Amino acid sequence: MTPAPTLHFLITAGPTREPIDPVRFISNRSSGKMGYALAEAAAGAGHEVDLISGPVAIPVPADPRIRLVPVESTRQMYEAVKARLGEADVAIMAAAVADYRPVQVSSQKVKKSQQGDWVLHLQKTEDILGSAREALGFAGFLVGFAAETENLEAYAREKMKRKRCDLMVANDVSQPGIGFDSEENEVWLFHADGGCERLPRAAKTVLARELVRIIERLARDRMRATST
Ligand code: CTP
Repeated sequence: MTPAPTLHFLITAGPTREPIDPVRFISNRSSGKMGYALAEAAAGAGHEVDLISGPVAIPVPADPRIRLVPVESTRQMYEAVKARLGEADVAIMAAAVADYRPVQVSSQKVKKSQQGDWVLHLQKTEDILGSAREALGFAGFLVGFAAETENLEAYAREKMKRKRCDLMVANDVSQPGIGFDSEENEVWLFHADGGCERLPRAAKTVLARELVRIIERLARDRMRATST
């Protein structure tokens, strides 16, 4: 039997940072562990990976199948995705993107002596996952992540529909020890066709291998269905 052809994965990982001035920024608790584990798992399964990563404390992956594209801001992540999405068969948006950026970025450090309370005016950043289908014309298998603290299924399904994903990986970040900045995770998979399954609590590296197996199978099914 001939081996199945290699797929091209694009994965976003980690947080993004939105500068306020040269020393301050807005960001979040994402460690990037889930995105990097997915990249390692996809490369380990023989696939090519573009890993577009915000600032994280994880060593550069050694696997030559992984091309790391480091970025800082949401706009940089958006541009890096835009430049590479056309080559991807599968896109997994695991990054915890900063949803807002300061409207004005000060070129000098803002001094406390200049003001009392400090009111920041924020504007929405680009929705990278939400742009994939229409603005960026992506026709491959699209996976989103949903970190929620309540109404997991309803919010994840609404996000999946709004951002036109094939699959949503959802986790309850109110539970201690899983999700953001943890070694472990427990996720629910919501499929666009209505199905759902739970992947029980496990190390992110173990979950990532399971997720890549499932995503690979679904992506190949979708490719077969759209080519006939
Ligand atoms: N995402 C993205 N670009 C953004 C915000 C989110 O690509 N600017 C992606 C994330 O990588 C994730 C998915 O969208 O795959 C869901 O992210 P989330 O922040 O939970 O969704 P939001 O649309 O921001 O919804 P809300 O803030 O209402 O929960």
